Amino acid sequence: MYMKKVFYFASSLAISALLLINSSCRREGQTTTAVSINNGSASHNNGQNCMTCHRSGGQASGDGWFVVGGSVFMPDKISYNPNGKILLYPGPNGTGNVVATIEVDGKGNFYTTDAIDFGNGLYPAVIGSNGTIKYMGQVTRTGACNGCHGVSTDKLWAN
Ligand code: HEC
Ligand code: HEC
Repeated sequence: MYMKKVFYFASSLAISALLLINSSCRREGQTTTAVSINNGSASHNNGQNCMTCHRSGGQASGDGWFVVGGSVFMPDKISYNPNGKILLYPGPNGTGNVVATIEVDGKGNFYTTDAIDFGNGLYPAVIGSNGTIKYMGQVTRTGACNGCHGVSTDKLWAN
C-alpha cells in the first residue's frame, strides 16, 4: 500500500517535470523555435517591431512567435550594433538573478521564441559590441522592444 503511494507520487512528479520542460521549450500550437546568436545573420527589418509579424496568426507565424524581439543601434542611432547581449532582470540596475540572456546577432537584431514569464515586469539591459552596459529605468511587461524604442522613445542604442 505504502509503496504504491510512493510510486504514484514519484510518477506524477516525473510527469509534471516533463510537462514543465516541454512548455518551457515550445508553446502550444507553435511549431518552430528561433533564438538569435552572436554572428547569426537570419534576421532582417532592423528597427521595426518584430512582433507585428512574428506572433501567433502574424505574417511570420511559421517562423515561431517571438517572446522578445528588437534591434540595437550604435550611438549614431543609424548603424547596427552587432553581437552584444540583452539581459532581463527582476530588479533595477542589474539586481537579482538574471531571468534571460539573449545574444544579439551579427545584424544587430535579437529575438527568442523561448517562454519568458514577464510577471509584473522585468528590467531590460543592453550590452553593446564594445561591452558597455545600459539599464532601462523601469520594467517592461512585453518583449516587443521596438514597439516603443524608435516609436515612443529613443531607438535602443549602445556602445
Ligand atoms: C513585416 C513583417 C515582418 C517584420 C516586421 C519582421 N519580420 Fe522577420 N520574417 C517575416 C517573414 C514573413 C519571414 C519568413 C519569410 C522570410 O524568411 O522572409 C521572416 C523571417 C525571419 C527570420 C528567419 C526565421 C528562420 O526560420 O530562420 C528571422 C530570424 C526574423 N524574421 C527576424 C526578425 C526580427 C528580429 C525582426 C524585428 C527586428 C523581424 N524579423 C521583423 C516577417 C517580418
Ligand atoms: C512600453 C515601452 C517600452 C518597451 C516595450 C521597452 N522599453 Fe526600453 N525604454 C523605454 C523608455 C520610455 C525608456 C527611457 C526611460 C528609462 O530608461 O526607463 C527605455 C529605456 C531603455 C534602456 C536604457 C536606454 C538608455 O539610453 O539609457 C534600455 C537598455 C532599454 N530600454 C532596453 C529595452 C529592451 C531590451 C526592451 C525589450 C525587452 C525594452 N527596452 C522594451 C520604453 C520601453
